[in-house]
Amino acid sequence: MKHMLDPAAYILPPDLDATLAGLWTDGHYAVDGSDLSLLNMCMATARPDLVIEIGTATGLSTAALAVLQDHHGIAGHVRSYDLRDVLWFDESRAVGDLVPQVAGPLAERVHIRTGVTALDVAGDVEAGTAGLAFIDASHQHPWPLLDTLLILPLMAPRAPIVHHDLQLYRNAENMVGVGPKVLFDQLTPGERFVASDMGLGHATVQMPNRAVADNVFGLWRRDALGGQARQLSQGLLLPWSLSAPLDDALAGQIAARLRAVYPGEVAHNFEIGHARFKTTQGWAIGQTGAPLSGPRRLLNGLRRRLGLRS
Ligand SMILES: C[S@@+](CC[C@H](N)C(=O)[O-])C[C@H]1O[C@@H](n2cnc3c(N)ncnc32)[C@H](O)[C@@H]1O
Repeated sequence: MKHMLDPAAYILPPDLDATLAGLWTDGHYAVDGSDLSLLNMCMATARPDLVIEIGTATGLSTAALAVLQDHHGIAGHVRSYDLRDVLWFDESRAVGDLVPQVAGPLAERVHIRTGVTALDVAGDVEAGTAGLAFIDASHQHPWPLLDTLLILPLMAPRAPIVHHDLQLYRNAENMVGVGPKVLFDQLTPGERFVASDMGLGHATVQMPNRAVADNVFGLWRRDALGGQARQLSQGLLLPWSLSAPLDDALAGQIAARLRAVYPGEVAHNFEIGHARFKTTQGWAIGQTGAPLSGPRRLLNGLRRRLGLRS
């Protein structure tokens, strides 16, 4: 499907580019100019009335998606979801606080829900109706894969799903952010795309680009979901990189949803992966339940902090 993307759309509308050039800082871990340019290519092809985003943070990408929709003459909506109410790098700021500044009057087309995960999107969105999704939430494996499985049934057939931070696994300071890469590796080359597949390097934009290339990748929803979900779910069997336990109640809800929409193998693979994770996690922190040593507590605290980002 990547032949359907138009490289001429690998650029940003100048007004949006100028606004973001004045706002963007690396510390917010937001999309950069090339990431957004690839999203613009997807927008131009998919022409989505409804865009779903998992991982809002400041709302820079959320608002940019609404502006890109409008740029292509689409009077649609962006629905964005975040686990937190406040920004993880500045708790005095509300999630989504940049949306009015970036989107202006288009902010009314943006709908943000906080305190939720991709599990909650199905309560707002009818199956098969979303035309584009952007996933940029937890980068710890298996969250990017789970986010994908949870929203795939809500996507229209052949709609693109774009993931951020594919290259994070190469960053030596990041201990856990391998999830986008694990997901990428479950896809055949024909089912995924990055900018360099189309001969594209960094986009020519005013707003900054990070040094790393191909930091976003896309995949397409197949017409029939069962085979795609079974294939993706193989990745759930690979070692999980969560920095904290996955709550059993949440795990139960995820398994129930996977079982409701996919062949049983998908939920089964999730349950096997979770059981393995619990075993190795017990091994890593000590099976006895004894209090952790000071250095171990420090290490876990560091992991949790990185986990917010990753
Ligand atoms: C990298 S930031 C998003 C940046 C934003 N997309 C942008 O480009 O401007 C990641 C966000 O995902 C949220 N998050 C982390 N884990 C999540 C999860 N499991 N479900 C939903 N949101 C999550 C965090 O609270 C954080 O605000």
